[in-house]
Amino acid sequence: MNLRYINSNIIRKRIFLFLVIIVLLIIFVYSVRNDAKNCFLNYTWTDGKTLQDVSKNIHLKTHSSSKNIFFHETSCSNDGIIKINSRQACAIESAARMNPDYNIYLLFTSQVGYRNETPLPLVDTLLSYHNVHFNYLNITRYAESTPLADWIKNGDLFRSSYVTSHTSDVLRYLSLWKYGGTYMDLDIVMLDKLSKQKPNYAGAESNKFVAVGIINFEGESGHEIADMCLRDLLKNFNGEDWGNNGPGVLTRVLQKICGTKDVMKMMIDGVCKNFNVLPIEKCYSIRWPEHRKFFEEAFLNETLERLSDSLIAHVWNKHSAATVLTKESNVAYIHLAKKYCPKTLSASEFF
Ligand SMILES: *[C@@H]1O[C@H](CO)[C@@H](O)[C@H](O)[C@H]1NC(C)=O
Ligand SMILES: *[C@@H]1O[C@H](CO)[C@@H](O)[C@H](O)[C@H]1NC(C)=O
Ligand SMILES: *[C@@H]1O[C@H](CO)[C@@H](O)[C@H](O)[C@H]1NC(C)=O
Repeated sequence: MNLRYINSNIIRKRIFLFLVIIVLLIIFVYSVRNDAKNCFLNYTWTDGKTLQDVSKNIHLKTHSSSKNIFFHETSCSNDGIIKINSRQACAIESAARMNPDYNIYLLFTSQVGYRNETPLPLVDTLLSYHNVHFNYLNITRYAESTPLADWIKNGDLFRSSYVTSHTSDVLRYLSLWKYGGTYMDLDIVMLDKLSKQKPNYAGAESNKFVAVGIINFEGESGHEIADMCLRDLLKNFNGEDWGNNGPGVLTRVLQKICGTKDVMKMMIDGVCKNFNVLPIEKCYSIRWPEHRKFFEEAFLNETLERLSDSLIAHVWNKHSAATVLTKESNVAYIHLAKKYCPKTLSASEFF
C-alpha cells in the first residue's frame, strides 16, 4: 500500500517534470525561431561608419513635399559594406536624371556603410547626382508613431519566409504613409517624367491585379489610401505567401475604394475617386512571363516598340536576375540603359 503510494507519487512528479521540459522546449524553439531571421540586426556596428540614419536626413520632412522618390534595399548584410548592382544603379540613375527636381532616397535596412578601401564605382556614380541620397533605415525606429509600431516589435515580419521581399512590401507603404511621394522597385528603368502623371497612381498588371513596382500617394487623399494599406497589412499579413503583402494589399484596398474587383473598370476615370489605375502599357507592358524579351536580341525591336508609351520598364528581377548581359549585348535592356542610365553603363562591365 505504502510502496504503491510512493510509486504513484514518483510517477506524478516525473509526468510533471516531463511537462515542464516540454513547455520549456517549446518556449526555447519559439524564441530561437523568433530571432533567427531578423538578419537586419545580425550585426550591430558601433564603429560610426554606418550611413546616416534616415531620420537625420534634412531633405526628408513629413509632408513637406511630394517630390520624394523612395527605393528600399532590404537584403541582409554580413559585412556591413554598401552593395548595389548595375541594374539597381540603373533604376536610381534613370529616376534621378528623369526627375532632377525630385529627391531620390535609397534606404538600406541593414547597417551598411563605407567599411573598406575597395572602390565602389556605382556608389560614386550615383552620388555624383545632387538629388540622390543614401541612408540607413532602422525599421523599429522608422515604424515608431505609425500604425505599424507594435506589429514591427512583435517580430512577425522577421519570421516571414520571404523576409527581404516582405520587408520591401511593408516599407513601401510605410514610407508613403510617413512622407508621401513615389515608391519604385529597384528593377525598373525610368522612361518618362513623374510630373506628367496626375497625383495618386499605380499600374494595372492584369484584370485582377494592380501591381506595386511603382506607387504614388500624395496629399491628403494619398495619405488616406496609405493608411488603408497599412491597416490591410496588419489584418492580412502572411509570411508564407510571396505576393499577398505587396500587390495583394493595394489591390484589396482599391477593390474597396473603387467598389469593383475588375481592374479594367478601375481604370475608368473617377471610378476610384482620387486614385488613378494606369493602363497595363504604362508600367507593365512586358509582363513577367515575357521577361526574356528585355534580354534577348530577337525581341529587341518588339520590346522597345511596346515600351514607347511607358513610364517605366519593369524587368522582373525575381525571374530575370540570373540572366547576365554585357554592355555590348544588343538587347532591349542595354538599349534602355544607354539612353536612361549612361553613367551606370560606363561604370559597369556586366548587367
Ligand atoms: C546571421 O549571422 C549568423 C552568424 O554569423 C549567420 O550564420 C546567419 O547566416 C546570418 N543570417 C543572415 C540571414 O544573414
Ligand atoms: C533601432 O531602433 C530601436 C528603437 O529606437 C533601438 O532600440 C535599436 O537599438 C536600434 N537598432 C540599431 C541597430 O540601431
Ligand atoms: C529592328 O529595327 C531596325 C530599324 O528600325 C531594323 O534595321 C532591324 O532590321 C530590325 N530588326 C529586327 C530583328 O526586326
